[in-house]
Amino acid sequence: MKRARIVGTGMAVPDKILTNADLEKIVDTTDEWIVSRTGIRERRIASEGESLFDFALAAAERALEMAGIAGSEVDLVICATFSSDLVFPTTSARIQAAIGASGAAAFDLSAACTGFIYGLGIADRFLRTDGARTALVLGGELLSRFTDWTDRDTCVLFGDGAGAALLRAEDDAGHGLLDVRMHCDGSLGDLIRLPACDNRKSPSLGELEADRSFIKMRGNETFKIAVRSLAEVSDEVLKDAGIAHEEVNWFIPHQANRRIIDAVGRRLEIRDGHTYVNIDRYGNTSAASVPIALDELNRAGKLAKGDIVLCAAFGGGLVWGAGLLRW
Ligand code: ACO
Repeated sequence: MKRARIVGTGMAVPDKILTNADLEKIVDTTDEWIVSRTGIRERRIASEGESLFDFALAAAERALEMAGIAGSEVDLVICATFSSDLVFPTTSARIQAAIGASGAAAFDLSAACTGFIYGLGIADRFLRTDGARTALVLGGELLSRFTDWTDRDTCVLFGDGAGAALLRAEDDAGHGLLDVRMHCDGSLGDLIRLPACDNRKSPSLGELEADRSFIKMRGNETFKIAVRSLAEVSDEVLKDAGIAHEEVNWFIPHQANRRIIDAVGRRLEIRDGHTYVNIDRYGNTSAASVPIALDELNRAGKLAKGDIVLCAAFGGGLVWGAGLLRW
């Protein structure tokens, strides 16, 4: 019996920082509103000429370097993103070529902010069934390219970046991915939308400009569903693995809103100081948020062998999921 274990992590974000004070000059908002309603203080924004590929590749290279594994050994590349530079070649295909993983299967995966969890779930199934031996799972977004900078409801929330996890199939010694659960309720899809690829009809130029490329969200309605779904799916993986809530060493939630993170942590009775939060520095980076947090924890030396790590995410679709690991 094989089990998928994370052997390397990496992340990369743009150098350019956009603070709440900067946003006060763009839209009718205040640092006080943004911090108290979301927990965000600043976010990273890609400069002209920078691409998702740049950050995804840097994150992938860092994960490979940490693991001491050559790119040529990777036989599956999954990139969770809805903001790929090109429709195709996909970001995953370009990463496959850049790291020299010739012969590896590669595909992009679109599950909004839950994309990395979905990627872990798919890689887990490949690795446990001998479909692959080494899998690179990336989550990356350049949300700034799909942000309406005149809409204060959304433009204060998002940031850019990429994270990566390198997974290996190993003989089961109890360490690695214990379970990954993925859920969706498409009937609630209208709550968060990015209509860029609405190909049901040929759009006029005016429609394209008006509607094409911005994230729209009914945040208030989404909030309660996010709290409930994150708590339920986390509960589900813990219960099925026979692990008590107080045994969780690190809870790594998707960083969409500090108030959502705190509410879910309370519902799950996660011990104080055991929930990882970096939303203040990056905002909501969608599919990148969980792998960025995982890499920060890992590189800070805060993950000890045997630690129980619970990752959970929620996003447009609506999609949500959780992954449980024994480090
Ligand atoms: N600055 C100042 N005021 C603002 C701002 C702003 N940036 N944005 C909204 N407001 C105002 C609103 O206009 C409203 O004013 P009104 O009362 O006069 O009408 C008031 O603040 C309250 O607005 P709400 O939308 O009710 O604010 P809320 O407390 O719900 O916070 C937020 C909004 C931060 C979006 C929150 O609802 C949220 O985080 N929702 C969940 C987001 C989420 O989890 N999304 C899923 C992942 S994203 C993805 O998949 C891409």
